[in-house]
Amino acid sequence: MNRPTVYVGMSADLIHPGHVNILKHAAELGEVTIGLLTDSAIASYKRLPHMTFEQRREVVQNLKNVVAVVPQETLDYVPNLRQLRPDYVVHGDDWRTGVQQQTRERVIATLAEWGGQLVEIPYTEGISSTQLNASIREIGTTPSVRLSRLRRLLKHKRIVRLMEAHSGLTGLIVENTSAHVNGRVVEFDGMWSSSLTDSTARGKPDIEAVDMSERLQGINGLFEVTTKPLVFDGDTGGKPEHFSYTVRSLERLGVSAVIIEDKEGLKQNSLFGTDVPQTQASIPDFCHRLRVGKKAQITEDFMIIARIESLVLDHGMNDAVERAEAYIDAGADAIMIHSKQNIPDEVFEFCDHASRFAKRVPIVAVPTTYHEVTEAELADHGVNMVIYANHLLRAAYPQMHKVAELILENGRATEAEPLIAPIKEALAIIPENAQ
Ligand code: SPV
Ligand code: MG
Repeated sequence: MNRPTVYVGMSADLIHPGHVNILKHAAELGEVTIGLLTDSAIASYKRLPHMTFEQRREVVQNLKNVVAVVPQETLDYVPNLRQLRPDYVVHGDDWRTGVQQQTRERVIATLAEWGGQLVEIPYTEGISSTQLNASIREIGTTPSVRLSRLRRLLKHKRIVRLMEAHSGLTGLIVENTSAHVNGRVVEFDGMWSSSLTDSTARGKPDIEAVDMSERLQGINGLFEVTTKPLVFDGDTGGKPEHFSYTVRSLERLGVSAVIIEDKEGLKQNSLFGTDVPQTQASIPDFCHRLRVGKKAQITEDFMIIARIESLVLDHGMNDAVERAEAYIDAGADAIMIHSKQNIPDEVFEFCDHASRFAKRVPIVAVPTTYHEVTEAELADHGVNMVIYANHLLRAAYPQMHKVAELILENGRATEAEPLIAPIKEALAIIPENAQ
């Protein structure tokens, strides 16, 4: 008689004794097939795995008792279960609560269609992927792992979410802040090194006055305390001959992408729009800048993203669309479309055009002025990356200013106390303070 069949769904990013225990029990019931969650399936409910699908499959198919490995394309087991009709599904009992609760219920209902059974193994105490993930963050990352992560995120997530970071402290906030939304843990996927916040934090205007070595030094500091990928605001890219060095320096550090904007002459912040004189570069000149950058890059994963200023400068949608196609032809790996309107309509209109381009690349949006738009709406219109470009700096400034004012007004600090972190909390920002 054929042995019963057993289906075990897992991510298997960091194999630990808990997984081994489940596999042991599963093998006692019959022949084990692993449903290995794809990167997209995992990214749909938690952080992208450290290892790629291929690397995880390599590990899992060499584990004792594993007879077959099949991809599980969704968090939902049902499509694979209907196809394989296993006698058993084996899972740890920890999914009775939390984000996987509904998945579990659907497994039970589906197995009942052919008399299959769910077997739950008591959770192995003392070890979990969450703990291992935390230790991995402590150990850190390498430049190449960090660099390549952005392309993986773009491939597997509906929309990639970046937050600006301009210091070690803001980097830690982007690295560690999470929120629970509908039973899922949401966090930022990476950091944006903004020319606006980088220069403002140094008390300088956003006119490329902070030189590249100073900005790169900042990135180095950020990278010392974080593991998430970073996209660098390269302003105009400078002279093409200099841009090639910038690209190489960024790659060497492990930066994932640079965005350069199609302006020339004295660059001022885009959100001034037409209130200040700003000149858009000609299409051939900007394409040349892009080509020089693409030629300079060494890794395959680094991205050069072209930023289009046509809408900000009132040059019209047709100009934006024409430029996008030319920049993509010149090698741009993605397009950032900037807008200073307070509604997202022109960005959405641009996305409609971009969806019909012969060659499609990811679209990046920066909803600073049209902040009411949600990530879901942006994703529905085809935006692949959203950048919150200046929010941590804008959060800190009014509070710091108010505290300084209160101390002056009162000749003491008591009145400022409600606005500032208790000293214990301030010390706890860096847990190593207590060691
Ligand atoms: C920045 O963050 O520096 C940017 C985006 O370039 S914006 O300020 O909107 O131009
Ligand atoms: Mg900028």
